[in-house]
Amino acid sequence: MLIIDGKKVSLVMKEELKTSVESYRSITGKVPGLTVIIVGSDPASQVYVRNKAKTCKEIGMNSSVIEMPEDTPEAHLLEVIASLNADPAVHGILVQQPLPKQIDEFAVTMAIDPEKDVDGFHPENLGKLVMGELDKCFVSCTPYGILELIGRYGIETSGKHCVVIGRSNIVGKPMANLMLQKLKESNCTVTVCHSATKDIASHTRQADILIAAIGRAKFVTADMVKPGAVVIDVGINRIEDPTTKSGTRLVGDVDYEAISATASAMTPVPGGVGPMTIAMLLKNTLHSFERANGL
Ligand code: GUN
Repeated sequence: MLIIDGKKVSLVMKEELKTSVESYRSITGKVPGLTVIIVGSDPASQVYVRNKAKTCKEIGMNSSVIEMPEDTPEAHLLEVIASLNADPAVHGILVQQPLPKQIDEFAVTMAIDPEKDVDGFHPENLGKLVMGELDKCFVSCTPYGILELIGRYGIETSGKHCVVIGRSNIVGKPMANLMLQKLKESNCTVTVCHSATKDIASHTRQADILIAAIGRAKFVTADMVKPGAVVIDVGINRIEDPTTKSGTRLVGDVDYEAISATASAMTPVPGGVGPMTIAMLLKNTLHSFERANGL
């Protein structure tokens, strides 16, 4: 069984991005800049945001984190976004989700300049993705990272049946649409399963490529997977495990131990899809910088 090592690929990508940032700095005297906004104190979000800022610095990009209190009014957040839209030193704006109840996530998505929407959440970017204009849009980082892994590992996809479990705007919907495109990393027949799908196993068992983005620990069991399938696990779920020092452990949406006996290739958790998400965010920020500077 081939282990699709996202940690290793993300390290290679970070070196590639660092080289690009350095060469652009010597040509233009400028570097790409990413601003991340976090509203409230969700502990998981804080870890993600810190990691994003740290990785930016590692590759020589500018990064700043704007922290706002849990009770921030929507209008204030929208004003801050407007000022970042107008700031030429900011090439990427990311508002960490989930947001507190008083803030409408769609209004926030709409407020970000599509040219700086390195999350790829704006309808202009998502719409271009659906139309196959990938070089003219930002692609949502997790699906984009999965496509990058498929490409770098040379996984055969054309004409294969890809089953995506999950229909979120961040992962499931863009992922399914990417796998449908006429790209060398996709060109699949695609099925999307979700919480109302009847007899999910009857669908997943037909998958040559199975992408699980459900958010439930070990949801995909061995009997749901066709022997020889490629299994991509997007889940990051913290479960109790008294044998570890912290008393908890991260697991995916897939029962890795059981399925690794029959799958042909799999992403582990951690160290699979997760590290790729940040790498693609930086790639999107670099692209934004390139477009802004005509590079
Ligand atoms: N929350 C979890 N994943 C993401 C992401 O990729 N972008 C944003 N903005 N929020 C998230």
